[in-house]
Amino acid sequence: MEATPKRLDLWCLVLLLICAFATLVDSQQPGYINIDCGLTDPSYSDGVTKLTYVSDDQFIDTGLNVKIASKYAVKNLISQFLTVRSFSNGTRNCYTLKSLTAGSKYLVRALFMYGDYDSLNKPPIFDIHLGVNYWDTFTVSSVDDPYISEIITTATSNYLQVCLINKNQGTPFISGLELRPLPTRVYADANSTHSLVSNGRLDLGAKEYVRYPDDLFDRLWLPATSQGWKDISSRSLVQPKTDFMVPSFVMQTAVTTLSTLQPLTIPWHSNNESTVFLMILHFCEVEASTVREFYMFVNGDPVFTITPGASPLSVPLSLTGNTTYSVSLVASSRSRFPPLLNAFELYTIQPNGIPTYSGDVSAIETIKKNYRVNKGWSGDPCVPTDFSWTGVNCTSDSSKNPRITALNLSYSGLTGSIISAFGDLSALKSLDLSYNDLSGALPTSLDQLTALTYL
Ligand SMILES: *[C@@H]1O[C@H](CO)[C@@H](O)[C@H](O)[C@H]1NC(C)=O
Ligand SMILES: *[C@@H]1O[C@H](CO)[C@@H](O)[C@H](O)[C@H]1NC(C)=O
Ligand SMILES: *[C@@H]1O[C@H](CO)[C@@H](O)[C@H](O)[C@H]1NC(C)=O
Ligand SMILES: *[C@@H]1O[C@H](CO)[C@@H](O)[C@H](O)[C@H]1NC(C)=O
Ligand SMILES: *[C@@H]1O[C@H](CO)[C@@H](O)[C@H](O)[C@H]1NC(C)=O
Ligand SMILES: *[C@@H]1O[C@H](CO)[C@@H](O)[C@H](O)[C@H]1NC(C)=O
Repeated sequence: MEATPKRLDLWCLVLLLICAFATLVDSQQPGYINIDCGLTDPSYSDGVTKLTYVSDDQFIDTGLNVKIASKYAVKNLISQFLTVRSFSNGTRNCYTLKSLTAGSKYLVRALFMYGDYDSLNKPPIFDIHLGVNYWDTFTVSSVDDPYISEIITTATSNYLQVCLINKNQGTPFISGLELRPLPTRVYADANSTHSLVSNGRLDLGAKEYVRYPDDLFDRLWLPATSQGWKDISSRSLVQPKTDFMVPSFVMQTAVTTLSTLQPLTIPWHSNNESTVFLMILHFCEVEASTVREFYMFVNGDPVFTITPGASPLSVPLSLTGNTTYSVSLVASSRSRFPPLLNAFELYTIQPNGIPTYSGDVSAIETIKKNYRVNKGWSGDPCVPTDFSWTGVNCTSDSSKNPRITALNLSYSGLTGSIISAFGDLSALKSLDLSYNDLSGALPTSLDQLTALTYL
């Protein structure tokens, strides 16, 4: 599923150095999680955002903390890139972001910079999953290229897991992890069944990137322009609309073409025609005093007529079934000004997989913790089936939450008594606890296991 363009050809999206805009704000935003992976100090306040970043020990119990090579630890490098956590053991290693609200919407951002941390001088290739869903693939050829991936998703329980998947093409690693709560009303296309994976969020005509605190949701808006475009801007604040809450700073800059005869075109490619894109274009007038009017064409078909005003207008387009796309803005015959665009966002709409039944997950997590089970168990116990936990068998009706039907913990060095959590695996048909050092009576909770045929 490496279907999406991570770099739009027209623009240079390199975001390595901190831009010189200072922010003097209070440190924490409610519900923000800021993790600097591989950090050995407990926490620090970030020089740019003033947000407090913490080390990752409370979010994961596998992996190794490592510093990037000193030659890549250049002055002004974003602090989160200085250290990484790497995962040489196991095919799936997961961070758990806790204390969330089931049913709420979140922006999750993962940051990566290889920086030759393992002295192999060869960036690995690995997958990133959010819970049971494929999210992205890290394939960066350059040793010091930073890579940032974002997803907008709805939590199905009170936690989200970010997993790194070893594809036998090098050791997975991660530099930073950030989570931001979003109001349910924004990004309506991210809902209980679908997530949005970002391919780019560009602030056209801007000179510096915009994030928190100018964007209260801390979305990252990268500055962009192109040859043949003119950058324009306004000093007047733009009141955000509630559907996308685009920050005023983003709407105050825009690009136009050089004449009304020249269309403003955004092209992109997909290597899979089944990929579903969500393109969101943001418009508001920053310059014209008389009429500016243009048509929006999508792959040559006219879809809208737009007359930008002082209040922002956001147009979401859901597009699929092709490998080349273009959105073109063409001035109408009565327009005195060329077409304009303030910002746009491009996402891939991805269906959410169905995780294991939550009662089974909490029971098996309790068992894992109680006996310190050392089988590389990480992430969802059953899904995706390629990564289901060793010794665990599950139902496989893809329309329902999978249930754990068999648990084989024989020869696993378990000690102590048999805890009642086994009785909470209520779909269990087979439980094998042989060749351990368990003692005491069977808990009465096992009587609840009406499907149990093998013990
Ligand atoms: C294209 O995407 C579809 C749906 O996501 C997927 O099933 C299919 O395997 C993909 N094809 C390729 C060639 O990647
Ligand atoms: C990998 O697993 C081995 C054996 O369990 C352990 O000794 C080692 O510390 C682990 N390495 C990492 C990086 O987790
Ligand atoms: C969820 O969003 C997807 C597109 O992102 C849409 O196709 C689907 O109808 C939405 N479902 C609900 C229940 O709104
Ligand atoms: C794909 O887009 C091109 C133009 O961009 C168009 O000519 C073609 O008809 C489209 N194909 C489909 C299947 O819509
Ligand atoms: C669990 O699944 C494995 C692999 O599919 C199978 O060999 C084994 O018999 C199953 N165990 C039980 C108890 O169903
Ligand atoms: C559990 O796994 C062991 C091997 O580790 C195997 O010998 C045993 O038959 C399995 N138990 C069941 C019920 O499948």
